Amino acid sequence: MDSIPIEEQFMNWKEIVKAPYDRKSVDAYTRTRVILMNGIENASVLMSHAIERMTVDPEIKRQMAAMRRADSMQQQTINWLNPANQTIIETTLGYEQVAVDLTANLARNEPDPYVKQTLDFALLEDFDHLYRYSCLYDYMEQGDPELIVQGNTEVKPGRPTVGHHRHPDDTMRKHYDKDTADIKTKMNYLTIVAGEQQTELYYKSHGFMYSDELARQIYSEIADVEEEHVTQYGLLGDPRETMLEKSALMQLCEAYIYFSCAQTETDPRIKSIWENFAKMEISHFEGCARLLEKYEGRDIRDVVRADVIEPLVVFEPNKDYVNKVIDEQLDLMPSGMEYKRLSELADTWSSFKFQWKVNRDGVPSEETTRKARDELVQRDQAKNIKEFKSQLAKRTEDVMAGRPAPPM
Ligand SMILES: [Fe+2]
Ligand SMILES: [Fe+2]
Ligand SMILES: [Fe+2]
Ligand SMILES: [Fe+2]
Repeated sequence: MDSIPIEEQFMNWKEIVKAPYDRKSVDAYTRTRVILMNGIENASVLMSHAIERMTVDPEIKRQMAAMRRADSMQQQTINWLNPANQTIIETTLGYEQVAVDLTANLARNEPDPYVKQTLDFALLEDFDHLYRYSCLYDYMEQGDPELIVQGNTEVKPGRPTVGHHRHPDDTMRKHYDKDTADIKTKMNYLTIVAGEQQTELYYKSHGFMYSDELARQIYSEIADVEEEHVTQYGLLGDPRETMLEKSALMQLCEAYIYFSCAQTETDPRIKSIWENFAKMEISHFEGCARLLEKYEGRDIRDVVRADVIEPLVVFEPNKDYVNKVIDEQLDLMPSGMEYKRLSELADTWSSFKFQWKVNRDGVPSEETTRKARDELVQRDQAKNIKEFKSQLAKRTEDVMAGRPAPPM
């Protein structure tokens, strides 16, 4: 694939803003690709800004500003593909569909077992968010979530949101080793951080736009869970990678995901955007590689250590995979950077007290579910879901009352 020189990447106002997709006829996975690429671009721009503020060399700052400006324009093109008649909640369902089918795809192809476990863990939470927001969609707009997910992704509870609220100590994770990690792990890491960060920012920039009290509260509750997700995923990255190394990997990630999207896109107009932007990313990556060589004397090939990144990231149904993870991992909880069963947690687990505190005056995700139509509410009555909730509530109550844990 060719690259486009940076000076040719700046667009005029009419080029930046393109016609949106049609809300009624768009393929669910075209919408998820738009949402994901917006997240990737935002992550690239935000990371570049953070690095710029810690960089002394004027030449590095100048070149990063050029790439960042192109990335910023790309971000606007992509986000403006979302149509005005798609409601905030409909877009939200799209965000959680991204979270489910992206996370499942990354987890299925993740070579590092700890990173895979972390993906599987949060997969069940975003899966539950899709269901809770579907209840909100029914309550607020009498909408059917199938309009958005189009049968590709199931709408039912995962690990219930009421149990996602953990003390910051329990969001700590181990990081991969930059010298031995597979390039796929590094790409998966940057991709999932971008997606989760974008989701958090979306909930925080839209949740206040409702006058309905419950709608305001559930966006706040789930935005806080996304903050946990951004923390846990962000910590998977090796902090010993230099800033230029991180920049090069981010640009490679942009190219890799655009290329993935181009291979699977069904809308020819949007496919040509993915192809065009992939070419721009190759030049960003090459630019970062030259900086790495000049300022650190390092060969980018020693960082990437691969000729291809496989497999591509594909949006497709993952129902069997998700159901298997639900069967096996519904009651997993993070403790001391590992994952334990709820029944194995010590009374001293920091999140018991935290949950008791944040949930004590009512839980918006639970209240929203009860407002939905019967058929949706029934899905929350599944045996595994009810058992999880009552086990967690009892354990929290016992710990707060100072009663000892039952023998295992
Ligand atoms: Fe970009
Ligand atoms: Fe989520
Ligand atoms: Fe999430
Ligand atoms: Fe870029």
